[in-house]
Amino acid sequence: MNILVTGGAGFIGTHTLIELYAAGHTAVVVDNLSNSNPVALQRVEEIIGVSKIPFYQVDIRDREGLEKVFAEHKLDACIHFAGLKAVGESVEKPWEYYENNIGGTLVLVDVMRKHGCKNIIFSSSATVYGDPAEIPITENCPKGQCTNPYGWTKSMLEQVLMDIQKADPEWNVVLLRYFNPVGAHPSGRIGENPNGIPNNLMPYITQVAVGKRKELGVFGNDYDTPDGTGVRDYIHVVDLAKAHVAALQCFRRETCDVRRETLDLRHKTEDVGSDAKVSSLKSQVYNIGTGHGYSVLDMVNAFIRVNGIDVPYSIKPRRAGDIATCYCNPSKAKNELGWEAKYGIDEMVRDSWNWQRKNPDGYPER
Ligand code: NAD
Ligand code: UFG
Repeated sequence: MNILVTGGAGFIGTHTLIELYAAGHTAVVVDNLSNSNPVALQRVEEIIGVSKIPFYQVDIRDREGLEKVFAEHKLDACIHFAGLKAVGESVEKPWEYYENNIGGTLVLVDVMRKHGCKNIIFSSSATVYGDPAEIPITENCPKGQCTNPYGWTKSMLEQVLMDIQKADPEWNVVLLRYFNPVGAHPSGRIGENPNGIPNNLMPYITQVAVGKRKELGVFGNDYDTPDGTGVRDYIHVVDLAKAHVAALQCFRRETCDVRRETLDLRHKTEDVGSDAKVSSLKSQVYNIGTGHGYSVLDMVNAFIRVNGIDVPYSIKPRRAGDIATCYCNPSKAKNELGWEAKYGIDEMVRDSWNWQRKNPDGYPER
């Protein structure tokens, strides 16, 4: 398939491009580079041995820019990563988050349907479960109260996409709820490149290890968890990337071709009511995690053990909005998509460090 990858220059997008090409797909990338660097795409091209992945520096809120992409490429599906993702910043700038994430997705989906491309995989998040009603979390667990505008954009966009699919059954919508992505491509050429002080645990640990920050603050050791620190379902980004490739099987090629023919026919006959043949898949939601919960101290200790580098830390007060424990039951993805995570905690901390030590300042400026 030829896949539109929005946000394809970012952390998860770049890793997914590699897995798409490895599986025989091709991609067109749209990214406004608000949180990424084009060098990352050059490195993806080097890794996969492709001279040029089509790239458009376009904002998904820019309808004309997106129209141009669809006019120049025949696209079967979209993997939609583009969005702002900093939890704390979203509390400071809620309008910017709703406008970018929700406004952008509405424009994207409108342009997609105009061009008869109605297959989308959306990057959702475990955050939609709020303080989860059950652990491990299954997809049947009710959605909860998000603690920040970023989380609400994910929760709301899930609803938007499901409603669009309900009204027009030609749409296939796959919602992937990621747990905690960490790690990097084993080559150490691409990885997570946060701006400023990292919000997330793993990039903070690697920046302490590389000497850019003095010590890690562990946010609370009085949770109801085995060692008192927060427990999460960390997933290697390469496994996460592969989950997107697995999810593409939901959009069978025949379905895309039937759709396109139907659309062409409709244009010719103006028979808008003609009955399109659509696949059995409608909207699906999958937890994408390992099913294992590790505490903050588990991660720190694994990092020290595997990499042989010390990570000084001290216990700090709890961070507002954090929950004690969050890990999933990923068996739905295994049973229906044939996907499961292969990498464990040792590979996660090894590859995170490999990326950081080889690129202490992230990507170079062009
Ligand atoms: P990232 O910031 O590295 O990548 C997102 C990309 O989208 C960036 O390259 C950015 O420049 C681009 N972008 C943002 N707004 C855009 C716009 N309006 N138009 C075009 N491009 C735009 O983030 P990531 O970690 O790769 O996350 C990818 C997706 O997965 C995001 O939607 C994020 O919310 C979601 N997600 C991430 C995590 C995580 O912990 N990393 C967890 C759950 C869900
Ligand atoms: N933590 C620390 N110190 C730090 C950073 C984090 O102790 O400097 C702790 C947190 O308190 C938490 C754990 O490490 O217990 C993980 O925190 P992260 O910030 O790495 O991840 P979160 O689980 O808070 O959130 C992440 C993403 C969200 C996403 C969520 C679920 O940031 O966008 O995973 O997918 F919604």
